[in-house]
Amino acid sequence: MKHSCGVLLALVACSALAAGPNGEQLFHDNCSVCHGERGMGGSAPKLVGDASEWKPKLFERAVLKGIDDAGKPLKTPMPHWQLASFKTDNGRQPSKAEVDAIQHYLHEQK
Ligand code: HEC
Repeated sequence: MKHSCGVLLALVACSALAAGPNGEQLFHDNCSVCHGERGMGGSAPKLVGDASEWKPKLFERAVLKGIDDAGKPLKTPMPHWQLASFKTDNGRQPSKAEVDAIQHYLHEQK
């Protein structure tokens, strides 16, 4: 099958255009290795029921700049995503909309 976006790009880029970033996919690809499937915790803290309920600005700051809700630097290996890129973004910096979509996805988990 020939398609102008590959399968992955079609999922990420094309659906992003249509419906906004896919928080579930972004979380799965970039965060679940440390924070556990569905944000339930792993080597890194559980996010559901905690950071998932922070004000979006605080959640964005934690993810992009590595600063927690009390203004303290988060310890490694939590990445400063501002200096990195989500897996399928081809080097593009994470956008606030993507981070918000991840938080929204976590907010929906129980
Ligand atoms: C390589 C492992 C790793 C990856 C990947 C990772 N994190 Fe983390 N994250 C951590 C660790 C470890 C901490 C705890 C740091 C601390 O206690 O100071 C943390 C802390 C956090 C916190 C603050 C939690 C709190 O209660 O203080 C948030 C929010 C967060 N991560 C979100 C994310 C998101 C969203 C992603 C994916 C885009 C992600 N992390 C990817 C390791 C990781």
